[in-house]
Amino acid sequence: MSDPAMHIAGIGISFGGLRAVDNVDFQAERNAITTVIGPNGAGKTTLFNLISGALRPDRGRVELAGVDVTGFAPAALQRAGLARSFQITNLFFDLTVWENLRIASQVLEPVSRALLPVAASRRALARVDALIERFGLEDVETDLAGALSHGEQRRLEIAMALASEPSVLLLDEPTQGMSHSDTEDTAALIRGLTSDVSILLIEHDIGLVMSLSDHVVVMNQGRKLAEGTPETIRANPEVQAAYFGSA
Ligand SMILES: Nc1ncnc2c1ncn2[C@@H]1O[C@H](COP(=O)(O)OP(=O)(O)O)[C@@H](O)[C@H]1O
Ligand SMILES: [Mg+2]
Repeated sequence: MSDPAMHIAGIGISFGGLRAVDNVDFQAERNAITTVIGPNGAGKTTLFNLISGALRPDRGRVELAGVDVTGFAPAALQRAGLARSFQITNLFFDLTVWENLRIASQVLEPVSRALLPVAASRRALARVDALIERFGLEDVETDLAGALSHGEQRRLEIAMALASEPSVLLLDEPTQGMSHSDTEDTAALIRGLTSDVSILLIEHDIGLVMSLSDHVVVMNQGRKLAEGTPETIRANPEVQAAYFGSA
């Protein structure tokens, strides 16, 4: 049996006396969508910060395809195959969509070639073209990122996260603030990405969680409350009390 895309083992961190993430275990299967849900303050974003190297865990382990990457810095994690969706503020608003993707794809280039002219890197350029097509950004390719609609900016963020050809993609509320139709388009897009990448998602929209996820992990007060298929989670009385009850 091959290792899962990601294995989180007993991970935890405290801020002062607060156990923001407390002994959390789960696996993200390959080419699947694993979604972390839970009420505000449950520890979801902190969990992502531990996984993506923004925070170093006090306890526990993060494995990518069986390789221990606990405590790796973000750049080393990226080389190990992990990518996280950029926040909108990390887009270069004064550069075009194409230029943003070109910069994000630069990590595919060997260091010795990084200073060569743009045309010297065929792999990165091919990646930019593939992402523009896949994300439906052809019509805005030469537009400044700052001039895009909110939905287009969020799509561009996801495309940029994929530029490094990761094996695991972390998405923290990718449809936040989107219109209903943009949300549906983005959900379909995310579903389509699983042919290439394993996805770990934080999402608030419970309808989207149920329709999109293969596996759901429920957090509450820093701990894992339950995990299972969307159907099992929806039917779980503890989850209903902690999460659906307050929604
Ligand atoms: N850097 C920090 N310092 C102190 N407390 C924090 C920090 N980050 C998060 N917290 C606290 O940890 C808990 C979990 O927060 P967070 O991970 O943002 O939850 P969620 O994303 O599920 O809403 C909250 O009580 C929050 O106030
Ligand atoms: Mg959060």
